[in-house]
Amino acid sequence: MRILIKNIKEIVQIAEPSRTILSGSAMSSLPSLNNAWLTINDDLIEDFGSMDEWNGVDDWTNLEVIDAADKLVLPCWCDSHTHLVFSGSRETEFVDRINGLSYEEIANKGGGILNSAKRLSRTSEEELFEQALARMKEISLQGTGAVEIKSGYGLSVDSELKILRVIKKLKSESPLSIKATFLGAHAIPTNYKDKRQDYIDLIIEEMLPQIKDENLADYIDVFCETNYFTVEEMSQVLEAGALIGLKPKVHVNQFTSLGGIQEAIKQKAISVDHLEVMEEADFKAVVSSDIIPTLLPSCSFFLKIPYAPAKELIKRGAPVALATDYNPGSTPSGNIPFVISLACIKMGLTPEQAINAVTINGAAAMELNEAHGSIGKGKKANIIITKKIPSYSYIPYSFGSNLIETVIISGNIQNT
Ligand code: NIG
Ligand code: FE
Repeated sequence: MRILIKNIKEIVQIAEPSRTILSGSAMSSLPSLNNAWLTINDDLIEDFGSMDEWNGVDDWTNLEVIDAADKLVLPCWCDSHTHLVFSGSRETEFVDRINGLSYEEIANKGGGILNSAKRLSRTSEEELFEQALARMKEISLQGTGAVEIKSGYGLSVDSELKILRVIKKLKSESPLSIKATFLGAHAIPTNYKDKRQDYIDLIIEEMLPQIKDENLADYIDVFCETNYFTVEEMSQVLEAGALIGLKPKVHVNQFTSLGGIQEAIKQKAISVDHLEVMEEADFKAVVSSDIIPTLLPSCSFFLKIPYAPAKELIKRGAPVALATDYNPGSTPSGNIPFVISLACIKMGLTPEQAINAVTINGAAAMELNEAHGSIGKGKKANIIITKKIPSYSYIPYSFGSNLIETVIISGNIQNT
């Protein structure tokens, strides 16, 4: 399909060769072009430029023309941390929390991750796929064009593989670009409570070889946290993952600082995610490495826990990415525009920093930044066209409003 978008008020996030990942002060600039046109051919951006210098198109056959007067064009969001393959929902725990129970207390009485794992074990692969596909549709209409999806609500050989097979099927049947992460080490299942090492051995000896055989994952993750996995346990799992070519992206410092960041850096992780609790040594470790700190403000919003120190990380020169953490327990939302609003309102980021964090830097946290996260010739045709809005700062400002009119993914207009 060929598409021409004309009279665009502003194209935001124009690709520049130096902008493949943005750190520190570079996160404050957001290159744009006013009064512009853009063409798409098949699944790629063919060209773009200023309406003042527009010569028209040579061939109008099979060309869909979109008039974007007073509307903005942005690259689709790149959500680099989700758990969107899960079964059902956990709103009863949500009500328990309103009534005073903590996330930890709920987990201790059989809720939390283990509750989702129990439900998932009773759900067929087909049903799980249908639920996940509906969530993919939902996030695509909110502007997400590339997404990382973790397993982790299985916690048994069969269920973990079931989730990863669903993600593999999503890769072939959903228009979004997807990266799969194996998170077998999300929680210790109840039947392994007193034999933790046996569960880790199960991950290493039974899950990983099958994942390798069926080519089911791109990355490996561990929830390194008090009451979940220790730093030493994380390092065992990551080392085994590395042997089959899985790079780490890990959950660390959500509730406690255990040294997981330092270990993740040692294990050449791409990103360290959460970081709500940061000590001085943690800041130093992040900024003296290439790792991408990935922050999840809608999780803080939902659990009422502190927001990660996004501003301080940027001030110290880090390349901050922002993602949703879409999952049934701590963030039942895959809405990136809301993440942008929270980043501005609660973390104090500027709209430029927040938009960079969910586009180029989110793409980098999935190693998709060559083709995703910015608008340039030959990049993937993943495009958001907004409704008529005054500026890109209106997106975080008008929190909760749906300001997206059209989403194009891989060159195809998504139907509402
Ligand atoms: O990223 N932190 C670990 N895992 C998820 C939440 C898990 C759940 O409660 O289901 C997260 O927040
Ligand atoms: Fe998560």
